[in-house]
Amino acid sequence: MALSFSLEHTDADSKARAGKITTAHGEISTPIFMPVGTAGSVKAVTQQQLYQEVKAQIILGNTYHLYLRPGIEILNKAGGLHGFMHWDKPILTDSGGYQVFSLAQSRKIKEEGVLFQSHIDGSRHLFSPEKVMDIQRNIGADIIMAFDECPPGQSEYNYAKNSLMLTQRWLDRCINHLNSTEPLYGYEQNLFPIVQGNQFHDLRKMSCEYVASKQAPGNAIGGLSVGEPEAVMYEITALCCEHLPADKPRYLMGVGTPWNILECISLGVDMFDCVMPTRNGRNGMLFTTNGVINIKNKKWADDFTPIDEGLPNEISHYYTKAYLRHLFVAGELLGLTIASLQNLCFYLWLVSEARKEIIKGTFTSWKNAMTEQLKQRL
Ligand code: GUN
Repeated sequence: MALSFSLEHTDADSKARAGKITTAHGEISTPIFMPVGTAGSVKAVTQQQLYQEVKAQIILGNTYHLYLRPGIEILNKAGGLHGFMHWDKPILTDSGGYQVFSLAQSRKIKEEGVLFQSHIDGSRHLFSPEKVMDIQRNIGADIIMAFDECPPGQSEYNYAKNSLMLTQRWLDRCINHLNSTEPLYGYEQNLFPIVQGNQFHDLRKMSCEYVASKQAPGNAIGGLSVGEPEAVMYEITALCCEHLPADKPRYLMGVGTPWNILECISLGVDMFDCVMPTRNGRNGMLFTTNGVINIKNKKWADDFTPIDEGLPNEISHYYTKAYLRHLFVAGELLGLTIASLQNLCFYLWLVSEARKEIIKGTFTSWKNAMTEQLKQRL
């Protein structure tokens, strides 16, 4: 079964939408945040916790990491990533386009693809659009991403344009190769193209129109949150949402803070992923309904109030700030789990509240008040 998307409500005061995506592994209510499980694990969190505590509806995996470890042979023997990690809900895999540029030790971009050296053992590999589609067939995610070049944020116009042209030719090769191969595990996989074009409006518009012409089941906006000012990210996101089909889900890749997510929902984005809740959580940064906390700060040493009384989740009520601070100071591994869970619960709560407010017709005023509250440093 191919993915379907239905819009349930469109906000009158903004471009926000509430919708539903249906995949072979179940439904996703949008707007949604997708926890990042790079190498087949959302770091420090179990699959049971993702189901029961976080109430994650879809998680993300990475082609680059899973290809290097455990490798496609093992994933294929396991019947794909769903079976391997025992996760029965939808999975989306990023194509490796971004990771090859941010992680690999050295890389050479050619028409054929990207030659790179593994960040793990220095071994040499080629990622081409065809190879990346084959790997994603073996991983078996419900949503798979096109192989793109994500150029540096400060690229000059000519570099950005040539890069975009290459990404477009690679998109055609991804589509052709996918159409000439069958899914390996009996359910359909849905390819999302990725819009690029840096901060240049004409390139972004051209990219959106090219992507839209492919009539894919969903579309992604890439190349943002790569060091540009927040205002530029919003401006480009707004422009892309204007030019991408309204009847397909729009996925903004790698964004962002809670307030970035609220703003981009108001611009018409439906799907988000980011390492921030887990990565920053492991560094002691907590997102709460009252604002941002650095749990390592001495001020929490004797604060015996719950981590976040404003969230419905048990993890946010069960442990105190003082206890969590102690775990961080003492280097106890449990601290990483509790902080990651708090932040993921918070992100999933935030998008589900946004959805309710969109349906009620009160999204914009709620978003403005919530943004002020969430940005506070406690
Ligand atoms: N993750 C965050 N940004 C990007 C992007 O531009 N391309 C890909 N493939 N993944 C991303």
